[in-house]
Amino acid sequence: MQIGVDYYPEHWDESMWETDIKLMKETGVKIVRVAEFAWSRLEPEEGRFDFAWLDRALDLFHKYGIQIVIGTPTATPPRWLTTAYPDVLPVFADGGVFHPGVRGHRCYNSVSLRKYGSRIIEALARHYSSHPAVIGWQTDNEFSMLDCHCDSCNLAFRSWVQEKYGTTEQVNEEWGTVVWSGEYSSWDELTVPYGGSPFQNPSMLLDFQRFQWEAAIAFQKTQTEVLRAICPQHFITHNFHSYPQRLDMHGLAEDLDVASFDYYPNPSPQKQATAPYSGALSLDLTRGIKRRNFWIMEQLSGPPGCWFPMWRTPYPGLIRAYSWQAIARGADTVVHFRWRSAAAGAEQFWHGLIDHSNVPGRRFAEFAQLCSEVNGLAPLLEGTGVISQAAILYSHEQMAALRIQPQADGLDYYENIKQYHRALTRLGIGCDVIGWRQPLEGYKLVIAPSLYLHDEAAAQLLEDFAAGGGTVILTSRSGVKNMNNICVMQPLPGLFSRAAGVTVEEYDPVGGDVHSLRSPDGILYECSQWCDILRPEGAEPVAWYADDFFAGAPAVTVNSFGAGRVYYIGTHAEESYWLKLLGDIAPDAGLTLFPELPDGVQAFTRTGPKGELLFLLNLSRTSQTVGLDKQYRSALTGTPISGPVELAAYGVEILETQG
Ligand code: GLA
Ligand code: ZN
Repeated sequence: MQIGVDYYPEHWDESMWETDIKLMKETGVKIVRVAEFAWSRLEPEEGRFDFAWLDRALDLFHKYGIQIVIGTPTATPPRWLTTAYPDVLPVFADGGVFHPGVRGHRCYNSVSLRKYGSRIIEALARHYSSHPAVIGWQTDNEFSMLDCHCDSCNLAFRSWVQEKYGTTEQVNEEWGTVVWSGEYSSWDELTVPYGGSPFQNPSMLLDFQRFQWEAAIAFQKTQTEVLRAICPQHFITHNFHSYPQRLDMHGLAEDLDVASFDYYPNPSPQKQATAPYSGALSLDLTRGIKRRNFWIMEQLSGPPGCWFPMWRTPYPGLIRAYSWQAIARGADTVVHFRWRSAAAGAEQFWHGLIDHSNVPGRRFAEFAQLCSEVNGLAPLLEGTGVISQAAILYSHEQMAALRIQPQADGLDYYENIKQYHRALTRLGIGCDVIGWRQPLEGYKLVIAPSLYLHDEAAAQLLEDFAAGGGTVILTSRSGVKNMNNICVMQPLPGLFSRAAGVTVEEYDPVGGDVHSLRSPDGILYECSQWCDILRPEGAEPVAWYADDFFAGAPAVTVNSFGAGRVYYIGTHAEESYWLKLLGDIAPDAGLTLFPELPDGVQAFTRTGPKGELLFLLNLSRTSQTVGLDKQYRSALTGTPISGPVELAAYGVEILETQG
């Protein structure tokens, strides 16, 4: 358990390094990430490596006992490389080139990028494999999907399709290209989707996404293979960011030891109602990537800004509280971005812990407090992790397919997940967000939002879970298509109707038109986006539509399946309905709630050999009171605590159970 900072020695005069590093040491910093954008300094011209400056920096870090993660520099190919080998640069659908000058200007399929990228990584790995300060590597920086349409991608996509389907006849069959005379009669006709038209064949578009996900994975593999071979004693991570990303994060993480996340909760008061909850989801999703504890590789340290007007400065306590939130939800290391705000370059106003003045101020003092608290509690936190009763199933494939063909106004896969997750968080139900094909043992409740693409294995997984006593919640737009993005010719929700005991008689994509549903106690709730008119076939209705031509038709059903139960929610109900439903489900499903958490307050538990640690986080600008039903001891102050505990604005309490 440790706190770190991101530091860019190449941005500062060398005379400043030791003073900076000394202050890091005094403040309690244990980890520093370096070099992820420094290609032009590490290889100033083709084949001429210069690691001397980085040696001097790393030797200083070592002198002060600080450990190092090196970022591979492939997110910033230098100008000599892109000029001599323009195939490094991605090409957009309209033929435009992603020119150098920013970053991320690299095509994952580019032969030159892979060649020169692997070469510098190999040189770095050989040079630093036995450096005493270096403990690990970050691959590239913040992978994202570019939809590259360059010649390399075109050829690679064609081979990918060839490999997947064998013959053009098979492609025609699996993609349904007969529609609009899109049939391929020879392989040269098959290209990446030029033009970017949304009218293109949806099966092809989904496979193009799959192809790109695999390209990012294959590109990362060119790095991890080199690093594993030369530095087997080091760990490898990648810093994922800003969810949702069109990435196969689970696939990328198979080659990593630990997943990392770059965490920038918006500190502006207008975002106070949402930022703590979307942040909680990001953290739970990151923990779900490898189903274990993770790192934060960049953490908010000051007001962000630059290419948009700056957000508000973090309110007193916010920097510390959000770091503790990350730790509560499974971060084992939190690295703050960045030590000092950049004086030059595109990110001058994405503030670090120390301002341009180089005079450590209020935010730095708060960071110093965080460092000393984390260092003090490290022994207690060591070996602790998160055990959740509930899981939300997340799928980059569902998200992609639902984006290729938007189903109804406002129906957004990730936004809907946010709402379900937020309801769980407000009820204090700990939740993992895991890949949709992951094993489900150990959970009591599984929420499976819009399993739009499906197959027998997906249906079977949920049936087995329910049969064994689990509670499943399915939502509308499930079982619509096969995995090729082709509609299945059977009543919705396709293969899931077996477990749900219900079929969809008709649907209405109501979009932004607000409708209502009625619970058995007569309370009305708003619903929107979508209305499935349900026909129970074994299931019991538990809510009915209250308006439109389908008033009185079932909107939500529950089916007993083996020892468990399967809910089907045919519409997008407002959050208060989810709070009620989850509250009703909890006793039978065996879920423990943390009742009456005030807005903005989150409760989360880490469990380890020495017992449980309950984190109470007030992620709001007002003080709040939380009721407790047990005797605790504050791990921060040592004081016994029982009964209501008052949390100041952005206050944090970490509680050990007594006795
Ligand atoms: C990302 C990057 C960092 C920095 C921050 C702030 O997360 O990884 O290099 O650019 O954003 O913008
Ligand atoms: Zn490309």
